[in-house]
This record gives sequence, structure tokens and C-alpha cells, in this order.
Amino acid sequence: MVQQQEIKRAWYKEMAVYQVWPRSFKDGNGDGIGDLKGVLEKLDYIKSLGVDAIWFSPLYVSPQKDYGYDIADYRNIQPEYGTLDDFRAVLEGAHARGMRVIMDLVVNHTSDQHQWFLESKKGDDNPYHDYYFWRKGKGKRRPNNWMSTFAGPAWEYDEGLDEYYLHLFAVEQPDLNMDNPKVREEVKDIMRYWLDMGVDGFREDVITFISKKEGLPSSPYYFPVGTGIENYMHGPHLDEYLMEFKNDVLSHYDCMTVGEAPMMTTKKALHHIAEGPDQQLNMMFHFEHMSADCMFFSWLHTKFSLKKLKKVYTRWQKDLYGKAWNALYIENHDQPRIVNRYGSVQYRKESAKLLATMYICQSGTPFIYQGQEIGMLNLALDSIDDYVDVSTLNNYQVAKKLLGEKKAMELVHYASRDNARTPVQWSAEKNAGFTTAENAWFHVNPNYTEINVEEAEKDPDSILNYYRRLLKFRKEHDVVIYGAYEEYNADSDKLYVYGRFLGDTKLLVVNNFSDDNVSFTAPQDFDLASGKLALSNYEKCGTLGNGFALRPWETRVYLWEA
Ligand code: GLC
Ligand code: CA
Repeated sequence: MVQQQEIKRAWYKEMAVYQVWPRSFKDGNGDGIGDLKGVLEKLDYIKSLGVDAIWFSPLYVSPQKDYGYDIADYRNIQPEYGTLDDFRAVLEGAHARGMRVIMDLVVNHTSDQHQWFLESKKGDDNPYHDYYFWRKGKGKRRPNNWMSTFAGPAWEYDEGLDEYYLHLFAVEQPDLNMDNPKVREEVKDIMRYWLDMGVDGFREDVITFISKKEGLPSSPYYFPVGTGIENYMHGPHLDEYLMEFKNDVLSHYDCMTVGEAPMMTTKKALHHIAEGPDQQLNMMFHFEHMSADCMFFSWLHTKFSLKKLKKVYTRWQKDLYGKAWNALYIENHDQPRIVNRYGSVQYRKESAKLLATMYICQSGTPFIYQGQEIGMLNLALDSIDDYVDVSTLNNYQVAKKLLGEKKAMELVHYASRDNARTPVQWSAEKNAGFTTAENAWFHVNPNYTEINVEEAEKDPDSILNYYRRLLKFRKEHDVVIYGAYEEYNADSDKLYVYGRFLGDTKLLVVNNFSDDNVSFTAPQDFDLASGKLALSNYEKCGTLGNGFALRPWETRVYLWEA
């Protein structure tokens, strides 16, 4: 028997979250850019999915060099998206429908147009100088050899000051010096500002990068991107700062946090999210399961390995069980569309439903990215000039140098974040019903005539309606949320099979990650004849003995209730 732990209920564990990347969600005023008016129009749609919260990618004032992750004013809304009143209307509208609102908290860096940075540039004696990492060069060389995550050196020279500033991301995203207590006070004030307005929590952008090793030492390693990461991916004062945010602010509100954490392992994660008095964050977005088709990030593309994926999932499910809570996602604004990566474009509908089942039936809080629920796909644009994402443009240059133009472009098609940032396809009307403007701000995927929300609404078997059934099923069965996890058929490179156990209730989730027919025999504890087929993505789901033959990309969920 699988060992079971006592349930520790919490609203953030039971909710499902829909992520809105505002620029491409819905244009409400006809200028070609998504906005809060558009969100307001679609609140009923979001609610209809069966989610309990919306996470907004940054809505704040920003020069949009990194589409909102470069913030120039933390307390106001980007004018293109609307006003604070528009935001309040969305907040109220969401709350009125029983949905919470989670804001993106981006405090590892600001925009170079933020008032603090503009001040900090004025001189060594400016009170804001120490809000950032300003350093003298070493002779003609930069202060250290760190490379930005977006490619290129992590230091930018300022002639006026004859100093360099640190930017782990784009040149226009100077890193904040979190070691300065004044900066931490600012962060806490920003948190209070939004929490007092009524928001329900934060997704904390690259939060595990906020503490840099003292002296900012050069790295003995070299990578074209991210050299030096060992000095900040889990820095010396991270625990301290996260505890301070919790004790001084977060613990005074009924709110939740999910921290974004590149290069995170279960062991390190537990350090931050294990329940108890020392818990710093509620959940963590790690990246390990997004590397089943690459090394660390999608630009180092490899063949998809189901075994690699299963190992990661099983490790996170097991290591966190009873101790901490998983954040589950397979898409977001930084990841190419999942059907192109782990699924099959040929079997788009089947594989999209399978992928949904595969991750949402695990223990954790599921996050669903806009467009994922209708199976939107990547978009390959002809020329690099058509792309707008800063990391795409920079990584392309690196790839071109190393691999030549053709291969670099193939990589762009595969790995670019712009794949996930095309406008949401609402209908078969012009511009996919995203905007009434002549042109949307970014390319609409031409497949919108077939893949769109309106079409999916009409079809009871659409991916969209499957998501609704799946989320309803999760909500109605604690075993999906809280059950213990056990993996079967671990050696298979086509099947991903796991069980979930809560009291005497159990679940069996069977997924065929291949274009082939694959035969399957249920593990000993499961008698298919006495179970109920709760979810599936094919018609006519017969059994043969205590098993069945799975069709391409078939998923089935069986339930045994006490
Ligand atoms: C996070 C965001 C990403 C952004 C980066 C820098 O990874 O999700 O979109 O570019 O941080 O803020
Ligand atoms: Ca607009």
C-alpha cells in the first residue's frame, strides 16, 4: 500500500489559475493591443473554464523592452492597458465571480527608465546610487565575467559615471541591490500597496536571483548565456530576504505566493516552501520538467525524452508529498507551445488533452496559460526581423555565430518565447477576433480560422470543453488534489502511468505519448472492471482482460471511490 499523509487544506492548493499575458489576451479599445477592457469582457469566459484565480503578467508602467518585466512605475498601470480604475474594475469583477487575482512581482530588477535608476545614475553620492549594482571596471575590463541570461555581458557601461551596472537580463533591466535595506523596504511597500487594494497574492519573478554573492566574483565557467549564475541562483541572503517579506508583509494578509526559480531542485525548493514556521513561499515554479526536450532551456534543444520527463515529475511529486506544495504548469509566456514540444501537431486535439490530463491530475496547483486551453500552436515566422522578444533576438545572434543562420532560424522557430505571445484566437473573424484594428500588435497565427475559442465552444469534444471537464473533475475529487502519487511502467518510453491514493479512493492515469498503439496491463492494485472511466480523449474505451490497447496519444483516467 502507498503510504498516505494527512491532508493539510488551503485555498491556494485547491485552486486552478489562468495566466493572462495582457498584451495578447484581448483588445478592448481597437488599437491592436490587448488591455484591461478586453480582460473585463472575457471574465465570464475565464470563469467558465472552472479556474479560481487569474495571474496577470505585468500590467505596470513599462517601456516594454521585456514586455512588462521592465517596470518603470510599480504603482500604476501601463497606459496602453488602461488605468488604475480599469484595474479595480477587473479586480472587482474577478472577485464578484469568485476568482482571486495574482499580480506579477518583478523586483530582481527594474526598467532603466524607473525613477530610482535615473536618480542612481546621477552620481556616486545620489541616495539611489546604492539601489543598484554600480561598479568600477577592472582596467578596461568589466567588473566580472558574468553573462546576461538574455545573452551578451551582464554589465553595461555608463560614461557619465565611468561605472558599470549589473543586468542579469536585458540592458534595460538593471538589477536591484536587495542587500540595501531601503530597497527591501520599497519592495515591501509595493507588496502592501497591491494587497491593500485587494489582490490575493504574487507570482514572484526570478525571485531566487535576488541575493548575489558578496564581492560579485567572476565565474571559473563560461557559457554564452548566464555565466556566473552559480553566484546568484540561490544566493547567500535569499532565505533572510524571503523571510523578511513574509514576516513584515505577507503573513499579515490572506494571500499566496509562487516564486519563479530557474535551476531549482526539490531539495533546495523544500528549503523555501516546506510547510511550517520557516516556510518562505507557498509554491515554486521550477523548470526541470520543461527540459525533457532540451538542456536547461529550449535553445539547447534535444530530442524529447518521456523518461526524462517522468523522472522529474515523479521526483517532485514524491519529494514534496506531505511537506510542500507543487505548482503545476506546462506553458507560460516564456515557453513555446506545449503541443509542439511534448505533444503532436498531427494529433493536436488528442495530445493537447493528454498533456492537460497528465499534469492536472498530479498533486499541486495547476496553472493554465492563455490559449493553452484551445490548443494554440507555435508560429514560425520567415525572418528574424519579424520577432520582437529581446531574448529571441539575442539568442539568435549567439546561435547564428555558433551554428549558422539556417540552424539558428530553426532554433528560433522552436524556442522563441514569441511562439506563446501571438494574440489569443477568439474567433474566425479577421485578426482572430482579437482586435477590431486593421492589424494586431503582433502576428496572429494564420491557423486561427480553425483553432479558435468560438469554434471550440461549439464542439463538445473540443480541447476547451475537455479542460472544463478536467478542472471540474479535479474540484470534485480530493484524490486529484491531495492524493499520494505512485508511478508505474517507469521503463516505458511511450506510456506515462501513475496512480493517486486518498483514503480508500484511488485514481489511475494512463497516457500514451506516441503515435503508436500501445498495449497496457493495469498494475496489481487496480481492477479496471470495478473502476469508473472518469476521463478519456477517445470514444469507445473498451478493456481487454485487466488492460487495454491505447490509441495514439490516448489518455484515460479511472476512478475507484470508496
Ligand atoms: C522571468 C519572466 C520573463 C522575464 C524574466 C526577466 O523569467 O517570466 O518573462 O523576461 O523573468 O524579468
Ligand atoms: Ca487596446
